[in-house]
Formats: sequence, structure tokens, C-alpha cells
Amino acid sequence: MDVLTTQVAIIGSGPAGLLLGQLLYKAGISHIIIEQRHADYVAARIRAGILEQVSVDLLKQAGVDQHLNEVGLAHEGIEILTDGVKHRIDLHKLTYGKQVIVYGQTEVTKDLMQARQQANLTSYYEAHDVQVHDFTSSQTDQSSPYVTFTQDGQAYRINCDFIAGCDGYHGVCRASVPQDKIKTFEKVYPFGWLGVLADVPPVADELIYVQSDRGFALCSMRSKTRSRYYLQVPLTDKVEQWSDERFWEELKNRLDTESVKNLVTGPSIEKSIAPLRSFVTEPMRFGQLFLAGDAAHIVPPTGAKGLNLAASDIAYLSSALVEFYTTGSQQGIDEYSEKCLKRIWKAERFSWWMTHLLHRFESDSEFDLKIKQAELAYVLDSEAGQTTLAENYVGLPYELKALELNH
Ligand code: APR
Ligand code: PHB
Repeated sequence: MDVLTTQVAIIGSGPAGLLLGQLLYKAGISHIIIEQRHADYVAARIRAGILEQVSVDLLKQAGVDQHLNEVGLAHEGIEILTDGVKHRIDLHKLTYGKQVIVYGQTEVTKDLMQARQQANLTSYYEAHDVQVHDFTSSQTDQSSPYVTFTQDGQAYRINCDFIAGCDGYHGVCRASVPQDKIKTFEKVYPFGWLGVLADVPPVADELIYVQSDRGFALCSMRSKTRSRYYLQVPLTDKVEQWSDERFWEELKNRLDTESVKNLVTGPSIEKSIAPLRSFVTEPMRFGQLFLAGDAAHIVPPTGAKGLNLAASDIAYLSSALVEFYTTGSQQGIDEYSEKCLKRIWKAERFSWWMTHLLHRFESDSEFDLKIKQAELAYVLDSEAGQTTLAENYVGLPYELKALELNH
């Protein structure tokens, strides 16, 4: 068995693990990333694409914002389409100058992987049978945490001070916490999102969130020449049932006349169905093990918060670890879970609310539908209602002065 030693063992090479690695590297803290999949698979995964300004600032702090600055699209508003009429939410005006950046998560992952390669940082891809050990040992115990895995038939052991569980919803870290030490909260939605990526210009300059009798739809983009569209579909639907033609036809059915006229269709380059889920784990720290990102929480994509929440966890975690290694103070570590969860529950509420407001639920009674319609009308007609949506959409502030991420 090969035995290695590092300060922080990071499990998972998604955006959470990669960003943590980069921030620790910048702070001179040693770490190793252990990932079960092949690097090519990780780099190619297609996910959402909206970054809050605080997430952009964090990527800048990690030194990986060059490509983002070159090709990211600043958006100062979004459209909400209901009853065949588009209503613009002026994010910029309503939040005193804030905006969001359209930049695909795939690009964020690639940028971080490239920076990692350039800095020659250690990662183990295609790691099998990853296990985390002894993370609940107290400071007075002789034992300290370690991670074991195999790669190419070779067994490894990594001794460390801390383990960062950045291994997503299906990861091993959360599953390794004793059942009586963890509580989970979950809501599963009775529909999914069918997503299509296509090399066609976006239907409009800004995102359009669509509430219609036929269900929700979203017109998003990755660039001025690449579009990302979604349709609410029953969970029982299979991708094979959705030819490109059927997808475009149904999208048109949910759009307004002007958008139908402007919609450019073309062959899909990716098509998949994702279920929608709200999920939170409490707490997020267990001795020397921290959970971060999808390992600890999931939001339905309606509020575009998944990647941004992973980033805020990493902001808190990296700052806590830097504080510990530079001053010896445990304060950030002790407060990690509480601080993260405060922001997470607010984003969970927002994502749940947007999902309820804009989707068609089969269980909705006629009364429920009328109430939803009235709620949406209130939000769109009132500046206070629009402001609530806008300030959540652009991202709530962090409780973190050291990183100067609050605007
Ligand atoms: N051992 C090692 N790696 C693992 C294990 C394991 N047992 N289990 C899972 N992983 C890896 C996965 O292969 C994946 O690459 O952990 C990584 C987790 O990455 P993500 O799922 O992308 O999670 P995270 O980094 O938290 O990013 C959150 O992804 O799903 C979106 O909306 C979400 O945008 C958010 C972001
Ligand atoms: C996306 O572009 O994939 C996207 C954008 C906004 C969302 C969800 C997904 O709310």
C-alpha cells in the first residue's frame, strides 16, 4: 500500500472539490483530490449555467476567472412569461446594480481542472472503493482521519487533518456518517426537466422562465451561438420519446407568439431528463469531515442556485481552513455548518418557491391554480414582489467579511 500525507483530503472533483483545491493551493495548504470517475467524464458533464456575482468573485480569488471574463455574458434581467405575456424583472435596477453571469458549469469545471494541471497539483482519478475513516476522532485521540482507495489495482492510504466531502449527492462521505448523527430533509417533485443543448442562437437576449397551462419551460443559453432549453415533463417520460422535432414543437406550444417567431431550431447536441429534488443535510460537519456542495444539499434548478450554493459552502470552508492553519483558531471550523445552512435554507426556500410558482402540478386543484396565478400576478405587478425575486435570484450576501465577497 502506498501511504501519503496531506493536510486536506478532498473527495470528489466536481466544482466544489476543484474550487476548494484551488483556494487551498493559493493559501499554501496541501491537499489531494480523489475522484471516482475519469477526468474526461468530469470535464464533459453538462449542468446549469448561471453564476451569482459572489461566485464570480470567488473564482477570481481562486485565479480562474480569465476565460469567464472573456466569454461570460452579464445579464441584468430575466423575463417571466405567463398568460402569453412576457414581464421583465430588472435585476440590475431592483438590486442596486447587481447582475448574474451566464457561464456554463462545464466551463467552470474545465477552467479549474486546467489551473490544477498547470499548478501540478495531485489528483487521483478513477479511484475505486473510496473510503473515509476515523474522522470523528477527537483532538485528544491518537488516531486521525485517513482515506483509502485503489487505482489501477494499487492500494492507497492518505493520512490527513481534514476530509472535505465534495462527492455529490451519491457520494460516500455523507453515507459514512453514523445515522444517529445526521438528519436529512427531502422533497421530491413529481416531474422532471427535459434539457436540450443546441448550436443555435438564443431566442432572446435574456433568459425566459415560462409558466404555461402545458407546464414550465425555460429558454437559457451558453453563448450567443449556443442555446439551452428545458421543458417540464412527466417523470415517466424517456429521452427516446422526445425526438428533436417533438421537443421544438412542444417548446413552441409553451412560448408567446414573438418568441415562436424568433426561435431558431436545430439538431440537439445533448438531451437528457433530470428529476427535481430539494434536499438538505444537517449538520454539515462531523468532527474532521466537512460536507460541501451536492453532498450536503440539492435544489431544483428553477432558481439556478445549485452551483452557487456549492461555491458559498467552499467560501466558508476555505476561509475556515485558512484561518485554522494561519492562526490556529477553530472558530470558522466550528461555525461552518451553521453559516452554510443559513444561506442554504434561504436558497432552498427560493428554489422551492420558484418551482411551485412556475410549474404545473397534477395535484393542483382549480383553487390552487387560481391562487398561484394571483401570486404570480402579485409578484409581477408589485415592485416589492419583483424585488424579492430579484434579490434572491442575484444571490443573497455571504456572512464572510474576510473574503470581501459582499457587495
Ligand atoms: N469517491 C470519489 N468521488 C466521488 C464519489 C466517491 N465515492 N462519489 C462521487 N464522486 C464524485 C463524482 O464523480 C463527481 O465528480 O464527486 C463529484 C461530485 O461532483 P458534483 O456532483 O458536480 O457535485 P459538486 O461539486 O458539489 O457540484 C455541485 O453540481 O449538480 C450540480 O447543481 C449542482 O451545480 C451544482 C454542482
Ligand atoms: C441553464 O442554463 O442550464 C439554467 C439556467 C437557469 C436555470 C436553470 C438552468 O434556472
